[in-house]
Amino acid sequence: MAAASVASRVESLASSGIQSIPKEYIRPKEELTSIGDVFDEAKKEEGPQLPTIDLKGMMDSEDKAVRDECRAQLINAAKEWGVMHLINHGIPDDLMESVKKAGEGFFELPIEEKEKYANDQASGKIQGYGSKLANNASGQLEWEDYFFHLVFPEDKRDLSIWPKNPTDYIEATSEYARQLRVLTTKILSVLSLGLGLEEGRLEKEVGGMEELLLQMKINYYPKCPQPELALGVEAHTDVSALTFILHNMVPGLQLFYQDKWVTAKCVPNSIIMHVGDTVEILSNGKYKSILHRGLVNKEKVRISWAVFCEPPKEKIILQPLPEVVSEKDPALFPPRTFAQHIEHKLFRKSQEGKKEEKDALVAK
Ligand code: OGA
Ligand code: NI
Repeated sequence: MAAASVASRVESLASSGIQSIPKEYIRPKEELTSIGDVFDEAKKEEGPQLPTIDLKGMMDSEDKAVRDECRAQLINAAKEWGVMHLINHGIPDDLMESVKKAGEGFFELPIEEKEKYANDQASGKIQGYGSKLANNASGQLEWEDYFFHLVFPEDKRDLSIWPKNPTDYIEATSEYARQLRVLTTKILSVLSLGLGLEEGRLEKEVGGMEELLLQMKINYYPKCPQPELALGVEAHTDVSALTFILHNMVPGLQLFYQDKWVTAKCVPNSIIMHVGDTVEILSNGKYKSILHRGLVNKEKVRISWAVFCEPPKEKIILQPLPEVVSEKDPALFPPRTFAQHIEHKLFRKSQEGKKEEKDALVAK
């Protein structure tokens, strides 16, 4: 398998001047009908739009009525969409800018320089610079390279593999991770209240301060000569408890809502937050983990910074909490560890595919 483990970078392919993309990047023909021009899609004003939740009241209001109203908005969006733009989330704009500048700086390095940080998926070294390997019979690939690393808790980080250049990468990314961790606790407490649970409950169920892992994936989507044939990231739900996403203000993210693909608009200084499978399972489906994907385009490189907040792989059994299960609301998910959940998804994908995913594939 030596040859297969040498991943080729999408960035090299994109900068080679090819006019048509290799067949491995071309989506199955049923799926192609749903892929449009992302700039046109992001301009559309009709149809459902991803909700924007203003956390100002939740952050600093002394007034209980204001706090309750803000919480209700967040809870509703988590039930209805499972994804939203967060504004007034308390993370300073200049800190988010520094994180983005640092990540962009890393990706501006020559490929040879980035290769020094290459991961090695075959030997289990998943952190570092990488690209998707064709791991199934179809050989399907995605139009992106990435940098993946654990950013919190700090004692579990491996700083030796973090980018040394730009020199402020570690400082900016560490501070962002610390502040996201604080925000994670606040969000989980509101989501707990929304299920009628004590406010610390979901946080505890996903591992608390010691065990909940924050993993950053910087997605780098080069310009694509045939964007109508490819995807930056294929349709999936996140396995995390919560995911927080920053991006460089180039549209790309689409959500599969009410049987249609809805393109997320770019909201300045917002953080996109997804409810992932973990919280969907614990809530017995009351909070949704929405199917989503990423389009690419011809004109602009897109970069996104996704932080996945994940429970430990083996230590916790994920299953609907007894308080949210009843005779008329039976458990929708069997007990599984996080590792088993991931395994189950891979298995199901290698089989016939989940119905919703098949429907999404052929949707307009
Ligand atoms: C992901 C993801 C979307 C984006 O990394 O899981 O869905 O906007 N990314 O890059
Ligand atoms: Ni995702």
